[in-house]
Amino acid sequence: MNKKIRVSTILKRKSEGVKITALTAYDYTFGYLLDEAGVDLILVGDSCGNVCAGYETTLPVTVDEVVYHTRSVRQGVKHALLVADMPFMSYQETPELALHNAGRFMKEGGAEAVKVEGGEHICETVRRMVEIGIPVMGHLGFTPQSVHEFGGYKVRGQDSKEAEKMKADALALQDAGMFAVVLEKVPAQLAKEISEMLTIPTIGIGAGPHCDGQILVSYDMLGLFDKVQFKFARRYASLADDIRNAVNGYCDDVKSSNFPSQDESY
Ligand code: KIV
Repeated sequence: MNKKIRVSTILKRKSEGVKITALTAYDYTFGYLLDEAGVDLILVGDSCGNVCAGYETTLPVTVDEVVYHTRSVRQGVKHALLVADMPFMSYQETPELALHNAGRFMKEGGAEAVKVEGGEHICETVRRMVEIGIPVMGHLGFTPQSVHEFGGYKVRGQDSKEAEKMKADALALQDAGMFAVVLEKVPAQLAKEISEMLTIPTIGIGAGPHCDGQILVSYDMLGLFDKVQFKFARRYASLADDIRNAVNGYCDDVKSSNFPSQDESY
């Protein structure tokens, strides 16, 4: 039987050298399926803006939307650590606003931790959240909420200046009390160095094999959102094709009066 995963379990995974498994979910059905399968950490990502709402970027996602998705996933999750992603401008303005919104994800959504993007500049906010008992996960490298500043979906930390800054940010986030850091689209060697430098776990997405764990957007790894194929997002299923085939079969059966049968009727 799967045991309840807590922040302490995630930290222990690193000290024991056991890789952390993490995926995103946005609703009850995915919540219980991923949880039953034994995933350690489920993130209600602001990627809901891309895969559920069809937005081009994650920027339009609101606090109310993430609260709704978190509450839905919460109903299905018994074992995994449930983390809510704080959307753009829900934590950047002031620590007070960040505390207020993080509180909503926990009280109304049932999250056990929150995730924020950024480095040294958000450390005061992180400290304030950790002080009052809100576990916080970080996100460095390609941080989607800064897509316009970056000028596209590029790998980060490729030159030495940016690599050094990322290392300093990672240490600052650890000092501020974070329990884990996501590294997105970072060269594998840099992710290795950051993972070795930190005592808290790194969770990679497009950051090579040396991170302490891996996370993917569930819709990408299941082949459900198949409009784009990211180099780092290995596909373990082709659900979009399965759905297309199933819907075609249903429409054919309805049109040819092959559905419903006697057995499917009262
Ligand atoms: O929003 C999200 O899904 C994320 C993961 C890609 C880490 O931040």
